[in-house]
Amino acid sequence: MQRNPSVLFVCLGNICRSPLAEAAFRNEIAALEIEVEVDSAGTSNWHVGESPDSRAIAIAAEKGVDIGAYRGRQIVAADYDKFTHIVALDDENLATLEVRQPRGSSAQLSLLLDHVPGREGEGVADPYFGGADGFDQTWADVSEAARALAKSFVSGR
Ligand code: 4NP
Repeated sequence: MQRNPSVLFVCLGNICRSPLAEAAFRNEIAALEIEVEVDSAGTSNWHVGESPDSRAIAIAAEKGVDIGAYRGRQIVAADYDKFTHIVALDDENLATLEVRQPRGSSAQLSLLLDHVPGREGEGVADPYFGGADGFDQTWADVSEAARALAKSFVSGR
């Protein structure tokens, strides 16, 4: 039986890029009026239980999503069966996800920007060590990809 899609976005810390990808994707599925379970996680355990970075909270609020209650968590083995799609924010995290994928698990792994025609293979740059303007670029990248990904679920790809 075909399962409803569910998406887990994964970056390194789960406090900057993947919470923003989750927020942007929530905007898109609401606009399209489709139901898709969504969450985000980090490959590292560095920020487990923490709120997103204050700069991420600020840009999401500007775009109409309150991510202040999101909390960092690390991906676990069960996520590979819980979610139909696990989407990495960059190549390094995709490689980590591949290494950790339990044999026989069902999730389809992909790179976020592979969902954007013409941007295949690109990663979303880590804004953590830069200034606030880096988060504008992060939002632009994740929202473009979130739109493309959400649309792919409507057309039933
Ligand atoms: P994220 O950004 O992977 O987009 O959440 C980072 C957050 C924290 C660190 C690195 C990247 N850190 O080194 O603590």
